[in-house]
Amino acid sequence: MEQEIQTVRERLAASDEQPLAMVQSFGCQLNMTDGEKLKWLLLSMGYGLTEEPEQADLILLNTCAVREHAEDRVFGHLGQLKPYKQKKPGLIIGLCGCMTAEEPVREKLKASYPYVNLVVGTGALERLPAMLLEILGGKKHSVDATVQSAPSEELSQVRSCSFKASVPIMYGCNNFCTYCIVPYVRGRERSRDPKIIERQVRELVSQGCKEIFLLGQNVNSYGKDLPDGIRFPELLRRLDAIEGEYWIRFMSSHPKDATPELIDVICNSRHVEKHLHLPVQSGSDSILHAMNRCYTVKKYLETVRYARSRVPDFALTTDIIVGFPNETDEEFSATLGLLEQVGFDNVYSFIYSPRSGTKAAQIADHTPAQVKTVRMQQLLAQQRETSTRLYRRFLGRTMQVLFEGVSRKGEPWLTGKSTEGVIVEAKGDPSRIGTFADVHIEETKNWAVLGTILD
Ligand code: 5AD
Ligand code: SF4
Repeated sequence: MEQEIQTVRERLAASDEQPLAMVQSFGCQLNMTDGEKLKWLLLSMGYGLTEEPEQADLILLNTCAVREHAEDRVFGHLGQLKPYKQKKPGLIIGLCGCMTAEEPVREKLKASYPYVNLVVGTGALERLPAMLLEILGGKKHSVDATVQSAPSEELSQVRSCSFKASVPIMYGCNNFCTYCIVPYVRGRERSRDPKIIERQVRELVSQGCKEIFLLGQNVNSYGKDLPDGIRFPELLRRLDAIEGEYWIRFMSSHPKDATPELIDVICNSRHVEKHLHLPVQSGSDSILHAMNRCYTVKKYLETVRYARSRVPDFALTTDIIVGFPNETDEEFSATLGLLEQVGFDNVYSFIYSPRSGTKAAQIADHTPAQVKTVRMQQLLAQQRETSTRLYRRFLGRTMQVLFEGVSRKGEPWLTGKSTEGVIVEAKGDPSRIGTFADVHIEETKNWAVLGTILD
């Protein structure tokens, strides 16, 4: 990779002005991290970065494939780029991320978007310099749709935020939930070396980073493929031992692997947020079975009860899929019942989207789209009430908050997150962004709590 980076650098240095590159990332945090790696590669090769497509000499769309809507958006963006290419024929356009792993997507690109020059697979990031050299040398297309390899540890990241950092701890997924395209586009599980992760976190903390976000499709599987027997709870323990003023968050946890040991480590830690994002997907055992989730509602509730027996206010958030093929009214009601029973602080809900190549996509689905939309609205309305009710427990309390930016309400309102992952807003000077403060909570909304900063 080094050699190719150098060669691209030399080629670009010959142009009168520094060429500019734009990276637009879609989807989850892991993909955002890949976007930061792509930016690092581009800077190493001598590109400047821009967010304006008119200025760019190279545009990379770093895509998400988890739902069809995300893919439609990318094709829409590609369509919008055509006039830029016509105005500037030397413009290089590339597709990266999860969509590149789908054969039908690559076929569609060939047939309808011939002006896309590069297709860089999720396991081929470090091949970008070599592929770019081919295009700069006059080739029209360069495609490497590799999925399985783990990104080289030589790839660094251009971090978009100085006080929050995402650290991937593993790549891929072995679970094959029947609706999910991730195992096909990100390959099997590969854990990163714990020593490298620890070194990276230590460095970030010493640089003043306040929130470390550990990422993996299923962090609870961390280490199963490593020779030294380390597992996720142990990794958390080692990272928690690093001295400094910072928080650790992680995502996502599969409920089948969320053990009491994991919860104990969270509860006993100094730095790990007392919050678990535990995607349940459905409150019906028959749907969970059809999804191949490998747990029952009973088992899920046991985990919730254990967490709350350790910390009564343990914050829980979840993901729900509404309208899995042929989900009945009773099965959907069971989901509403579970949400009511658990009382999640926040729910991320999605209407089921069939993904080609997955098992669920082969099921003939007889539920009308309209029924799914109504169910979604019902769920959202119920959850708004639940969140508002649950947030009231924070009234009169003092919460530690990491301020992340100016609120959408504008100055002097700042927005941040508490250790429970709750959005907290308070009036304050923007110099507080990126720092911790204690906030006395005085008001609740259905999306946040509001308070006054205590000095
Ligand atoms: N349709 C709808 N939602 C999906 N998710 C994953 N695959 C699909 C799909 N095919 C949701 C799940 C997962 C979240 C990241 O995206 O709820 O937890
Ligand atoms: Fe997809 Fe299931 Fe893996 Fe999550 S655990 S990435 S939902 S296959």
